[in-house]
Amino acid sequence: MVLGRLFLGIVLCVVVASDGDVWPPFSIYQTIEWIKSDGYEPETHHVTTPDGYILEMHRIPYGRNGKDASNNRPVVFVMHGLMGASQAFILMGPENSFAYNLADAGFDVWMGNARGNKNSRFHVSLDPDDEEEKFQFFDFSFEEIGMYDLTSMIDYVLQYTKRDKLHYIGHSQGGTVFLVMATMRPEYNEKLISTHLLAGVGYQDYFPDTQLRRTALMTDIIYSQALRSGIVELFPPDSVDMVPGGIFPTRELSSDARCVGSVEYSYMCELFGVRSIMRNNPNDQAGAALKQIAHYGQNIRDKKFRRFHHGRQANQAAYNDTTPPIYDLSLITSPVAMHYSLSDDLLDERDVLAMVADMPNAIARKVARDSFLHSDYVVALDAKELVTDYIIEDIIRADLAARPVEEAVVTAAPVIDNTTQVTENTTQVTGAAATVVLNVHLIVLSLYVMFK
Ligand SMILES: *[C@@H]1O[C@H](CO)[C@@H](O)[C@H](O)[C@H]1NC(C)=O
Ligand SMILES: *[C@@H]1O[C@H](CO)[C@@H](O)[C@H](O)[C@H]1NC(C)=O
Repeated sequence: MVLGRLFLGIVLCVVVASDGDVWPPFSIYQTIEWIKSDGYEPETHHVTTPDGYILEMHRIPYGRNGKDASNNRPVVFVMHGLMGASQAFILMGPENSFAYNLADAGFDVWMGNARGNKNSRFHVSLDPDDEEEKFQFFDFSFEEIGMYDLTSMIDYVLQYTKRDKLHYIGHSQGGTVFLVMATMRPEYNEKLISTHLLAGVGYQDYFPDTQLRRTALMTDIIYSQALRSGIVELFPPDSVDMVPGGIFPTRELSSDARCVGSVEYSYMCELFGVRSIMRNNPNDQAGAALKQIAHYGQNIRDKKFRRFHHGRQANQAAYNDTTPPIYDLSLITSPVAMHYSLSDDLLDERDVLAMVADMPNAIARKVARDSFLHSDYVVALDAKELVTDYIIEDIIRADLAARPVEEAVVTAAPVIDNTTQVTENTTQVTGAAATVVLNVHLIVLSLYVMFK
């Protein structure tokens, strides 16, 4: 089955790469069905943040090899990267997917979905598809994801599992939002037994991509121009429907329109980098707010890991200072392991080591394959051997060490989840596409608004 999936993935990638017309029909909305068909019993949970976003979490409470219903299992919270979703961690089939490996190790695995992605594109009062309300809905960066989404989801998981602490794992932006949470809400350090960041992005002083570094100089102009043009979201759902078929004869053009959901601005996707992601599978892009990209752009430009720059006056109002405050990593007292690799196209070793030096209780761990890429943590066949197995061992060790010495073994009640949404099984075609990647390349997008 795994081989079949991989083979299919390869075939599809080839097909997609050679012909923009063919995309695997797998949708990000089918994550739960996909997990079921892989032999697990997933659950869906919803959490509402203090500022009204309704987030979806996917849980894999047990491995394939039967239920260990004791409450001795480590509880693990896993967070995806930019424009990604929980789906990122199950793309590779039962043997190789990160989340399945953790579940099969006996962990209770919870996967978050950040506000604004297709699983969490809901709000108690704001409509993301309303031409007015969308500005307010998408007015968030990774800071809000860290301060509100992570804290809400972690509290929910702790409450639901009746634990005091859990283990955190974040890929790429999943690392950024951890760094934000643990500095802006430092009390959350107390709720973490261990943290593993996979290419966790924070400091970007040595951001590797020179072209994007240059583009980042224009971030603020680009972003405000994009807002004026009504662009607030990347890869909105069903954006293909917004493309009048008659105007554009090829689907390749219509796929360009997907990344901003607008025919008018489809030329923005002609840019370097963007086309190559969309080739993987445009349906898999889970979406994000443009402001997330703008915030990364500011940090790359300023060589500072700090809060959003609103302009001097607005900074004064927001922060009581004309410059945005930094995220002070010295406040991160909980133990953190930063996994990184030398070939990462979006994160430099020097930045990783500088972050580790600034955190009181952090270590760096270099992946033992120099050619390991930013997305390989979730798409490489050797990720298990190179990264995941280490994390599993470390979590088991840390979890045992965190237990009270004479803890009685309590048998947990069977978990019946009201909020699980079951839709009927659908046939899935699964591309092993490397779609969930931190994609700072999209900074470039908005540049073209200027030249419009
Ligand atoms: C704003 O900053 C000034 C100078 O740094 C400080 O004296 C003042 O107390 C701050 N005001 C508030 C409301 O924090
Ligand atoms: C299911 O939901 C109902 C109503 O919200 C609640 O009373 C009940 O305790 C829930 N059951 C479980 C198992 O969570």
